[in-house]
Amino acid sequence: MTRRPLVAGNWKMNGSLASLAEVAAMGGAYDVALKARVELIVCPPATLVAMAVEVATRLGIGLGGQDCHVDASGAHTGDISAEMLKDAGASYVIVGHSERRADHGETDAIVQAKAAAALRAGLTPIVCVGETRAEREAGDALAVVGAQIDGSLPADAPDTIVVAYEPVWAIGTGLTPTPADVAQMHAFARERIEQRLGGGKSVNVRILYGGSVKPANAQELMSIANVDGALVGGASLTAKDFVAIADAY
Ligand code: G3H
Repeated sequence: MTRRPLVAGNWKMNGSLASLAEVAAMGGAYDVALKARVELIVCPPATLVAMAVEVATRLGIGLGGQDCHVDASGAHTGDISAEMLKDAGASYVIVGHSERRADHGETDAIVQAKAAAALRAGLTPIVCVGETRAEREAGDALAVVGAQIDGSLPADAPDTIVVAYEPVWAIGTGLTPTPADVAQMHAFARERIEQRLGGGKSVNVRILYGGSVKPANAQELMSIANVDGALVGGASLTAKDFVAIADAY
C-alpha cells in the first residue's frame, strides 16, 4: 500500500490574477522535505488555471479544475470540458462537490459521467461525497455516502481516482466531525469503494477529508486512519495556512 497524501486547495469562486502571487508563495514554502511527504495541488477558478500552471508547475505544485462538462466539446455555453482543463495544464478535476450538487442539481449519475469524462481526458477526478446535517442527525450518514459512492464512481475507474468525504454541514462552518466519526466514515468509504471497483483497488484509492480543515486541526484530522489527505476550501487561499496544513503530515 503506497498512498501518498494529497492536499488539494479548492479556491471555489475566489481569486484574481493577483492571487498567483499566493501560488508562488506556496511554492516557496513547499520545500524538498515536504514535497517528499505530501502532494500539493491547487484548484483555482477556471479563469486562472492556465496562468497558475506556469507558476505552479515549476514549483512542484499540481493544478486542478473545479468542475467539467461530460462532453469533450460542443454547444454548451459557459461550460468547460475535461479536455480543455487538460489542455490548460491541469492534472486533476473536482467533480460532484456538494456546492455543485446543491446549486446545479448535479445527481450521482451526472457526477459519475463527469468522473468518466475526466478519466477520458487523462485527468484524475476528485469525486466528492458527504451527508447533510439532517441526514447525519437522522442516522443516515453512512447510507447516504455509500449510495453516493455507488452512484458517483465509474465502475471501471482505476485506483488512481480520488474520493473526498466532505460532510456538507462542516463546509465553511468551522465545525468538524469527531475523529471517531471521521475514522468510521473513511473506513466505511474504503470498503464501499472496494465493493464498487473490486480487484483490491480500494487499497490504493486516496480518500481525502474536507470541511473546515485549518492549520489548528489538520494534525488531528490527518492522523486518522484512512484519511489520505485533505480537500481544503477557505484555508487554501493563503500560502501560510495551506502549506501549514500540508505540513501536518
Ligand atoms: O472543497 C472544499 C470544501 O468545501 C471545504 O471548504 O475548508 O472552506 O470548509 P472549507
